[in-house]
Amino acid sequence: MPKITRQICKTAKMRFYLHILLLSFAAVVNGQHIFRLASFSSDVKSTLANVEEGSFLFISSSDNPNYLKNIQIETAGSFYNALDISTRMFSASSGRKIGLKVLRGLSITTTNNNTISSKLFGQLYVTTAAQAQDPNFLVYDVVARETITPTDNLSKTYVLFNVHNRSVDGFYPYYSGIISNLTQDPNSVLVMNTGIPGQQLRNVTKFFANPLNDTGVSHFFTNIEPLSIPLPVFYISATLNGPTFTMESGSIPATTINTTAVSTSGLILVNDDELAQNYTVNLNADPAYDGVCGFLYVSDLVDNVEADGFFYGAVLFAGFNYDNTEPYASREYKFYAQQLGIRPTSPNMGFYSFQYYNIKGALLPTPPTPQTNQPTNPATSRIPITSTTQKAIIPTTTKSADFKTFSILLVFSAVFQRLF
Ligand SMILES: *[C@@H]1O[C@H](CO)[C@@H](O)[C@H](O)[C@H]1NC(C)=O
Ligand SMILES: *[C@@H]1O[C@H](CO)[C@@H](O)[C@H](O)[C@H]1NC(C)=O
Ligand SMILES: *[C@@H]1O[C@H](CO)[C@@H](O)[C@H](O)[C@H]1NC(C)=O
Ligand SMILES: *[C@@H]1O[C@H](CO)[C@@H](O)[C@H](O)[C@H]1NC(C)=O
Ligand SMILES: *[C@@H]1O[C@H](CO)[C@@H](O)[C@H](O)[C@H]1NC(C)=O
Ligand SMILES: *[C@@H]1O[C@H](CO)[C@@H](O)[C@H](O)[C@H]1NC(C)=O
Ligand SMILES: *[C@@H]1O[C@H](CO)[C@@H](O)[C@H](O)[C@H]1NC(C)=O
Ligand SMILES: *[C@@H]1O[C@H](CO)[C@@H](O)[C@H](O)[C@H]1NC(C)=O
Repeated sequence: MPKITRQICKTAKMRFYLHILLLSFAAVVNGQHIFRLASFSSDVKSTLANVEEGSFLFISSSDNPNYLKNIQIETAGSFYNALDISTRMFSASSGRKIGLKVLRGLSITTTNNNTISSKLFGQLYVTTAAQAQDPNFLVYDVVARETITPTDNLSKTYVLFNVHNRSVDGFYPYYSGIISNLTQDPNSVLVMNTGIPGQQLRNVTKFFANPLNDTGVSHFFTNIEPLSIPLPVFYISATLNGPTFTMESGSIPATTINTTAVSTSGLILVNDDELAQNYTVNLNADPAYDGVCGFLYVSDLVDNVEADGFFYGAVLFAGFNYDNTEPYASREYKFYAQQLGIRPTSPNMGFYSFQYYNIKGALLPTPPTPQTNQPTNPATSRIPITSTTQKAIIPTTTKSADFKTFSILLVFSAVFQRLF
């Protein structure tokens, strides 16, 4: 009975989120290292447990400064307000943050009323002591355009906070940043993860890698498309001589994308707080050439939706579709693709991400028959040609009573999932 098992899992997960929420309103908050400022209510003094002596506290926030001033942080008998901590930067031109050293405990009180508190989007983050002592562990607010160029060949971790953008419309994600011009030494390994280092908040965290070897074949990408990353916080771990990249606040709103090189890798990532849309990536492949295409897919989908998609080549076609029973997948197809399409089945999907790639191979011996009538918007029924994953659509059998309970729990879950 896979359906029942799945629902039990989901319920357990929801309870877990609910549990965290209740704890965060109680006096002692255990174990968690990142919070939305909205988690702290005026009713109690919140003491964060398991905070290591010598760790760093950071606050990333674009909330109203008057409300930030009303949040007090106490450590080792000294008081700071959240505005002062959020503006501690190495320089006016850099988003790099200076942590507040935490000694002998950490507690938070607020004089904002709960209506105000619940609307705060800022994030409070506490590292471990080891991370605080590591000169290669760097925390940034992604704000004005800034290029990161390593000055040595040591491994580095960049924790990147996207600040909340207040001019939100229905399509602009709440928190979003763009990473562009990403280059790295061919011997280095780069991985991007959701959340914060050392604390796994989602079941799957890695959403981008270079080289990417998940399919069993390792590919190093010399060209990487600009990456639009609508996550409140994420981190980049990289070894050896790199990477060099530019980061800035914002998002790439286009849903039709032309890639910038014949061999390339890019990203389509949709977070819980966004409306999922159809994406079309024109890979601009020369049909005279052979090649490979593929993806790394990770997700945390809601029930009864699917992340569907396809690669078109000059001759071959591959379709894929995943529901919430498959949070992780990677595939490589032995053809040079001309187009990638991502077709979510609902506007409200939860979190999902595709790191896609297309790599030009050898000149084909005989030119393939040109295809003159290629549809750009295929019906789902065309997907099965070389499809490797087939899922039946899960019938909606949920009774209304169950559904009510379920949606209430979802509200709590959404609050926390947005953090990552
Ligand atoms: C909460 O505080 C805001 C700003 O000070 C104020 O405008 C609002 O009326 C307060 N709400 C309640 C319920 O006290
Ligand atoms: C890293 O740089 C140091 C000093 O410049 C050098 O001694 C070392 O060989 C380099 N290591 C690698 C793996 O390139
Ligand atoms: C990326 O690099 C290109 C070429 O060096 C440059 O024209 C472009 O402005 C850069 N983009 C960003 C966002 O820095
Ligand atoms: C996380 O993934 C593991 C392995 O695939 C699975 O057993 C587990 O149920 C998943 N947990 C959640 C909360 O989805
Ligand atoms: C795949 O890459 C990861 C780093 O992203 C590395 O730790 C791992 O050893 C690699 N696996 C193989 C089989 O090359
Ligand atoms: C906020 O979002 C708007 C689009 O709604 C965009 O034009 C603006 O540049 C964004 N501001 C920042 C700081 O990202
Ligand atoms: C992509 O390329 C096509 C054809 O070259 C062009 O018509 C279209 O405007 C381009 N789209 C974008 C978003 O650059
Ligand atoms: C996405 O594509 C599907 C299938 O091609 C179509 O049915 C749906 O209306 C499209 N959605 C949007 C938002 O364009």
